[in-house]
Amino acid sequence: MSIIQFPKEMKWGVATASYQIEGAINAGGRGASIWDVFAKTPGKVKNGDNGDVACDSYHRYEEDIEIMKDLGVDMYRFSVAWPRIFPNGTGEVSREGLDYYHRLVDRLTENGIQPMCTLYHWDLPQALQEKGGWDNRDTIDAFVRYAEVMFKEFGDKINHWITFNELWCVSFLSNYIGVHAPGNTDLQLATNVAHHLLVAHGKAVQSYRKMGLDGQIGYAPNVEWNEPFSNQMEDAEACKRGNGWFIEWFMDPVFKGAYPSFLVEWFEKKGITVPIEAGDMETIQQPIDFLGINYYTGSVARYKENEGLFDLEKVDAGYEKTDIGWNIYPEGFYKVLYYITEQYGQIPIYITENGSCYNDEPVNGQVKDEGRIRYLSQHLTALKRSMESGVNIKGYMAWSLLDNFEWAEGYSMRFGIVHVNYRTLERTKKDSFYWYKQMIANQFFEL
Ligand code: NOJ
Repeated sequence: MSIIQFPKEMKWGVATASYQIEGAINAGGRGASIWDVFAKTPGKVKNGDNGDVACDSYHRYEEDIEIMKDLGVDMYRFSVAWPRIFPNGTGEVSREGLDYYHRLVDRLTENGIQPMCTLYHWDLPQALQEKGGWDNRDTIDAFVRYAEVMFKEFGDKINHWITFNELWCVSFLSNYIGVHAPGNTDLQLATNVAHHLLVAHGKAVQSYRKMGLDGQIGYAPNVEWNEPFSNQMEDAEACKRGNGWFIEWFMDPVFKGAYPSFLVEWFEKKGITVPIEAGDMETIQQPIDFLGINYYTGSVARYKENEGLFDLEKVDAGYEKTDIGWNIYPEGFYKVLYYITEQYGQIPIYITENGSCYNDEPVNGQVKDEGRIRYLSQHLTALKRSMESGVNIKGYMAWSLLDNFEWAEGYSMRFGIVHVNYRTLERTKKDSFYWYKQMIANQFFEL
């Protein structure tokens, strides 16, 4: 038996995102987002599901906060639906939209839970998409305006801000692979989007600093880890490209002020260029207070000519998979955190998401999600290992508080530590909830 013990300063939390849990898509004058439109386009989301009702957290946030209070978390990472604040993306601010988040944040604070606010977790106002979305630099200005309104309104209530969630998904998954909104399949366009997100991030950080607020700001890229199949150079190089698409592409500009040349050259060979304008790289390279990291999975992979964008083929190395089919690969969590620290120094890191999909249902009021408990304990063990190796971990947010709308998978894939019955909207705490609760109370667990 071994004991995995965490320092008492460590912050524990849970994470969610607006479109995945709120529902109430017309309440308070909310405008449409790209996900409303995408989900209602036939064939885009499994079973034709959409976020119209989701977990109805817009109305049930008090109940959800009660659940979090019982769990004993220090922090709640949630996101704001931009179209609740600016129904048309720009123009008039909606007071009702702001008031909803005031109610949420005040209630959290009254219950001793610190809010961690993500400004962009994918619900771009549809009105902006109609003008080109993130391919259009005007969207950068619209985002900065939205961010400034949020900072001004909530700067004294919210101390942890995240500009963007999973920039790789917003750019490449949504605009090159095309499985998320808006569903484009154009690599140049996706590269433009990635660059504009980074510029928007940098500008929002500049605005935050100018306002002199007493809090912290960062962003939350998603990472994966590809471990070379062999010690052959070509396997290592292919994995470096695959990992770099998530890591260096989105972190070098922020921490080093330049895109990684090994990938820039690779993209150039495919005719892709980054649309950098004068001053962009300085804007992107704003010091941030913390880095958010979302990690779920990794793979063993090897070189294979013409496989995907990077001549990289994933190999089934026999790892167990969660119900969504992703490898359970806690070593990758350790390795990626260690690698990031080697590359960028001991920047404070919050794990802004980590979790697993298991579709267990309640039986006599109990959800026995042993798979999720195993996943959590393995990943927390890897996290502790990274901390012992000098990774500067400040906190951990489990994904997710609730089962919710899992994007293109609709409601078919459950990531919550609390089960949601989508017919009655009843919440049932799973066994993993009680496991995590005990871990938070003790600051350790036994393996
Ligand atoms: C990352 C995303 O940020 C979140 O929205 C999603 O539900 C989880 N991954 C699980 O896929």
